[in-house]
Amino acid sequence: MDILFSSTTFELSSGVLRGENTESTVKQLAQLQGVFGDETAFRTMNQSKVIYEVTSHMQVTEGKSGGLFFGVSKIHPGTVGNEYFMTKGHFHEKRDTGEYYFGISGSGLLLLMDEAGECSAQRVVKNSLHYIPGNIAHRLVNTGGDMLVVGACWPADAGHDYDSMLERGFPVRVCRVSGEAALILNAEYTP
Ligand code: PA5
Ligand code: NI
Repeated sequence: MDILFSSTTFELSSGVLRGENTESTVKQLAQLQGVFGDETAFRTMNQSKVIYEVTSHMQVTEGKSGGLFFGVSKIHPGTVGNEYFMTKGHFHEKRDTGEYYFGISGSGLLLLMDEAGECSAQRVVKNSLHYIPGNIAHRLVNTGGDMLVVGACWPADAGHDYDSMLERGFPVRVCRVSGEAALILNAEYTP
């Protein structure tokens, strides 16, 4: 029996994930319609601007019970109006599935929200570890001046429910106020 090297590599210090069964997706501003509060600022920006990138290692078919996926998200620094760049955010389609996030570099916030709209925020920094229980929506926000790089591991049958997030939004928005990140109540939030 041969002892093999894995055909995939993950560099802990940079978050670079590459090799077999990895794929990357890029989210440009145009794909985030309705996500940011300031629609005028949104419209005046370059629509092809990259807001975040996700590279995932998917060894099994999506939906496979008992399987796991591993990924790295990179959220670029910047704002739409005064609201920091962030991910769309989602509940898992299969609600009762958790996920781990861990900070690799940069600084930001992880917004969490339960089905009743109860919201909390955790600081994401290098080496921070975040357990996201089932039934909790999650969104990453880059509040720093550098790329926010975050690792994740989640069940292969969790799925992503973006529609409920787009309809409801989060109860808070993360905005730059006097040069600092502040949580602002979201007037458009529908409980
Ligand atoms: O599985 C996850 O929670 C992450 O890999 C996210 O999908 C990633 O951060 C991108 O966010 P979203 O799926 O909300 O666009
Ligand atoms: Ni998730």
